[in-house]
Amino acid sequence: MNGLFRLTLVLILTALTATGAYAEESGVKPDARPEFDLEHGTVLLNSGYTMPINGLGTYSLHGDECVNSVKAALECGVRLIDTASAYGNEQEVGQAIREAIAEGTVQREDVFVITKIYPGSEMANPEESIQACLDRLDLGYVDMMLLHHPDPNDVSAYHAMEQFVRDGKIHSLGLSNWYVEELTEFLSQVEIMPALVQNEIHPYYQENDVIPFIQNHDIVVQGWYPLGGRGHTTELLGDATINEIAQAHGVSAAQVILRWNLQKGVVVIPGSSNPDHIRENAQLYHFSLTDDEMARINALDRGEKHDWY
Ligand SMILES: NC(=O)c1ccc[n+]([C@@H]2O[C@H](COP(=O)([O-])OP(=O)(O)OC[C@H]3O[C@@H](n4cnc5c(N)ncnc54)[C@H](OP(=O)(O)O)[C@@H]3O)[C@@H](O)[C@H]2O)c1
Repeated sequence: MNGLFRLTLVLILTALTATGAYAEESGVKPDARPEFDLEHGTVLLNSGYTMPINGLGTYSLHGDECVNSVKAALECGVRLIDTASAYGNEQEVGQAIREAIAEGTVQREDVFVITKIYPGSEMANPEESIQACLDRLDLGYVDMMLLHHPDPNDVSAYHAMEQFVRDGKIHSLGLSNWYVEELTEFLSQVEIMPALVQNEIHPYYQENDVIPFIQNHDIVVQGWYPLGGRGHTTELLGDATINEIAQAHGVSAAQVILRWNLQKGVVVIPGSSNPDHIRENAQLYHFSLTDDEMARINALDRGEKHDWY
């Protein structure tokens, strides 16, 4: 999609929300779920940009391990990288992408980078914090910026991000750890519709009430801790149902869980520092789960959150 078309779409969406037309419709857009293109592994966001639907999460990756993991991901075709100011690794993520560009692995526009600003002092001084993310990443622009958590200053911080979108420094906006109540209150106060909400989602914590609510607003859902989260993966990856399904398809338990997410319309960003895992986690498009297999995994939900937010 060319730049002019994207800009036009952003302006139309901005105008719609500013006039209240979008806000009036919020919550009552049946079947507005953003469609995943499972052939190309992408989704068209409400901002007009196309985003990959599988990526690499970088929480807990630092230094050379982070640089090497991001480069390994880019080398095996992963084009979505999730970082955050709070992870303390934006510099390494930026360095890895710049090196991959210099080595001819990717071009800047092929890679979709998400970062986040944190509650407290960052959201109290949003212009400074947003610019600091841009400076640390040093990639010219950021594809998407999220508010990491709700905060007393979240609306004004979001307004600051909106201005960076108008200035062309950020392409799309989103939220993280926002649920039905928070979203309902938030959406009427902003001009640019969030394109994405990133929340904890895995077979033991499925958010089956929250996901359709978000998707019906034409907002893409992205799951964090898709494999249960570092330190919590053993039980989930060893789950008997998931392993039975994995065996039937000749894939790993991790691939089954990630594919289940994609078929529910949830973008996945598994974290890994192991190049073999990174490659495996990107091979999600050569098999599909049957309705029965989806139902069996859906039945594993036990509302078991692996982190507090
Ligand atoms: N917005 C938020 O508040 C929030 C909160 C938490 C996380 N996140 C994001 O979500 C991303 C994912 O979360 P996460 O990294 O903490 O947890 P995760 O993706 O659920 O699990 C990561 C763990 O799984 C292992 N693993 C990865 N692929 C594997 C495979 N194919 N087979 C076996 N083990 C595998 C990793 O070990 P190896 O390194 O050995 O592969 C690591 O221990 C984060 O990196 C971050 O970007 C966002």
